[in-house]
Amino acid sequence: MQDRGNWSSKFGFIMAAAGSAIGLGNIWKFPYVAGKNGGGSFLLIYLAIVATIGFSILMAELVIGRATQRNPVGALKRLQSGKWWPLIGYAGIVTAFVILSYYVVVAGWTLAYIGKSATGLLATTDGDALGGMFTAFITDPLEPIVYAGLFTALTVWVVVGGVNQGLERSCRYLMPALFILVIILCIRSLTLEGAGAGWDFFTRPKWEYVTFQTVIEAMGQAFFSLSLGMGTMMTYGSYISRDSDVVESGFSVITLDTLIAVLAGVMILPAVFAFGMDPGQGPGLTFITLPRVFAQMTGGIVFGPLFFILLAIAALTSSVSLLEVVTAYFVDELGWTRRNCTIAAGVVAFVLCIPSSLSLGIWSDHTLFGLGFLDIMDFLATNLMLPIGGMAIALFAGWVVPKQMVEEFCAGNPKLGGLAKVWLFFIRFVSPIAILIVLLNGLPFLGPYLPWN
Ligand code: PFF
Repeated sequence: MQDRGNWSSKFGFIMAAAGSAIGLGNIWKFPYVAGKNGGGSFLLIYLAIVATIGFSILMAELVIGRATQRNPVGALKRLQSGKWWPLIGYAGIVTAFVILSYYVVVAGWTLAYIGKSATGLLATTDGDALGGMFTAFITDPLEPIVYAGLFTALTVWVVVGGVNQGLERSCRYLMPALFILVIILCIRSLTLEGAGAGWDFFTRPKWEYVTFQTVIEAMGQAFFSLSLGMGTMMTYGSYISRDSDVVESGFSVITLDTLIAVLAGVMILPAVFAFGMDPGQGPGLTFITLPRVFAQMTGGIVFGPLFFILLAIAALTSSVSLLEVVTAYFVDELGWTRRNCTIAAGVVAFVLCIPSSLSLGIWSDHTLFGLGFLDIMDFLATNLMLPIGGMAIALFAGWVVPKQMVEEFCAGNPKLGGLAKVWLFFIRFVSPIAILIVLLNGLPFLGPYLPWN
């Protein structure tokens, strides 16, 4: 059997897991999804979901991973001999490809924007010009695909490097750098004239806008942002040594991820309002608003490229975790070499990203329920596959192997007995039931047709 590798320290694990969690989901997606859903009330619902469902399922994944030291398919097989539960692991591999198919596209945009901002191409305060440039770029049939390919190659390169030299090393320094830059940009954004309206929008709850659709988006966003529901955290947990406490680490990861999402909102929404832009404008929000902030700030020509470099890095430390789920399965279960299976999976991911990118441009006429390929992949993964996967993981941990789970939960720290009981109650009842209710009512093709709605 090949040496699977382990995180070199608790700090190394926290940085790698936070690296997986913190990514495009926090900085690119969170502000525009919050903007679309009315700001403050979305933020509160999101925080409530992270603290309850999010934390309980993150712990379930980490505990299963550390207990078995296996990829998700192998982990579930090892804990229980039934043949159905490992399906959760296989579903995770499919979900990894679904997410990668569009993740590398958007990550490719960030690569392109490094160059565009460094050469001064974006140095204008004219919002229409910036919007036009963004649209022209993402609808181009070739350029974004080239960048997506480049980004996929980078992802493959890190994963081939392995757990310590690739995954951990890339996160150790880059995550703290990202954090510092986000804080600088928050300060700049908040001190823009007219920023107060954005702050107010982001923090003041507006309950009249909240429907089950809002809640499902908040729940999907929480799963996506925390990398939950597809075995990523289980895989990362499997590289934690058996004697290390996972609860504290899990807590740190969730806190860091949530902090960066909230800070991204603070960084972007006040600027949106200061420039009189529409917070609900969607995926272009970050790429159009921030260049305007940079154009107005002293040193913007440095901060601009720096920001896009860090955004690309945040995306990279997440995309490697998606690919690692696939690699860990092939290495553990089928005995492939890390190098070969990672390259093969990278090629598949690249092929799948082509329709995603084209669906924004020359294939924009090909839609299903009004959604293009990229939107369909995002909807499927975020609002369906991750929550269902999370529910299945909670049910497995809570009902199939509860005794073992509680023991493992406390393994690194015997004082955690009380918390373990609360956790068990959450993974048995609260989280699965809450997910089911939100899914049933919030899915646009299901909720409105149910008799009680
Ligand atoms: N959490 C990442 C982000 O917020 O960008 C995306 C992601 C990574 C989702 C890994 C799921 C996953 F397994």
